[in-house]
Amino acid sequence: TQNIFILGIESSCDDTAAAVLHNGKILSNVVATQDIHKKYGGVVPELASRAHQQNIVPVIHEALDQAGISKNDLSAVAFTRGPGLMGSLLVGTSFAKSLALGLGIPLLDVNHMQAHILAHFIEEEGYDKPQFPFLAMTISGGHTQIVKVSDYFAMEVIGQTLDDAVGEAFDKSAKILGLPYPGGPLVDKHAQLGNPKAFPFPKPKVGDLNFSFSGLKTSILYFIQKQLKEDPQFIEKNLNDICASIQHTIIGILMDKLKKAAKQTGINQIAIAGGVSANSGIRKTLKEAENKYRWKTFIPKFEYTTDNAAMIAIAGHFKYISGDYADLGVTAKARIKM
Ligand code: KG4
Ligand code: ZN
Repeated sequence: TQNIFILGIESSCDDTAAAVLHNGKILSNVVATQDIHKKYGGVVPELASRAHQQNIVPVIHEALDQAGISKNDLSAVAFTRGPGLMGSLLVGTSFAKSLALGLGIPLLDVNHMQAHILAHFIEEEGYDKPQFPFLAMTISGGHTQIVKVSDYFAMEVIGQTLDDAVGEAFDKSAKILGLPYPGGPLVDKHAQLGNPKAFPFPKPKVGDLNFSFSGLKTSILYFIQKQLKEDPQFIEKNLNDICASIQHTIIGILMDKLKKAAKQTGINQIAIAGGVSANSGIRKTLKEAENKYRWKTFIPKFEYTTDNAAMIAIAGHFKYISGDYADLGVTAKARIKM
């Protein structure tokens, strides 16, 4: 059998990541998170780009060291071409190009959103992979999509957000509550201790399989402002219940559309991907849906939910196998279609 070693490089947003895969199995998966953005309450593109430049060499060395291989063992280099922040993407793209050129091995360009979905195909003991066709819901800080996946690289977006991404809805709600960035995981943490029905928030009315989250953010803001006028301690006293109610509403919005998509396509294999799939409420609700709706659900391992390079490497692995190499003239792209 062939020995395929793929180095994956991810630098689309604020995490610098590198991973090594051997025949689709993880040998290493290293992520350097940039803490600098915390104090600004969001990702600052210029600072992200600079931090990537500082992190990329040590992160790649670390990934190769942990994998126990040298760069000369690599079969190919895979990198995130987009979508993402241009200044961030450029760092990973230029590095991947020069490494592939220097080593004389193929370069593989990867679509970040496809990679989030393909993370389900990383070889893992005891993990059942989805079979084609399946539905994937990509829920992250930048995207909210329902995708019909017919093959590794045959993906069709059948629904998406018309405004904010679901991760933004979590983060902006958290900000209203005075929680630090990124607030999604904190909302999740408090939600686990609260009553999801304490404060009902309206669900948006959006047609087809599309989503909208900007109205929810506004209604949360108005609700909190009104309550604070009556009781300045309202947030402190009710934080768990508020978070549980927000999370419950968001999960309801996602589930409504997933159910509609499953019905419309007749597909009952459902996978989730992207940073927000780390959410404990979503994971639990989807597990329960297996019995409730007779779905087979696929929930990624925690470390493959938020941005990582293992997902870039597995996407590269499939491109490598089919000989779908990138030209050395390939450029980063802030916006790419699925
Ligand atoms: O996929 P990702 O790491 O980066 C993007 O490509 O956007 O997703 C990051 C998003 C952030 O909005 C973060 O708040 C959210 O995922 N997130 C969560 C949880 N963990 C991460 N949202 C809700 N609950 C969580 N446990
Ligand atoms: Zn992502």
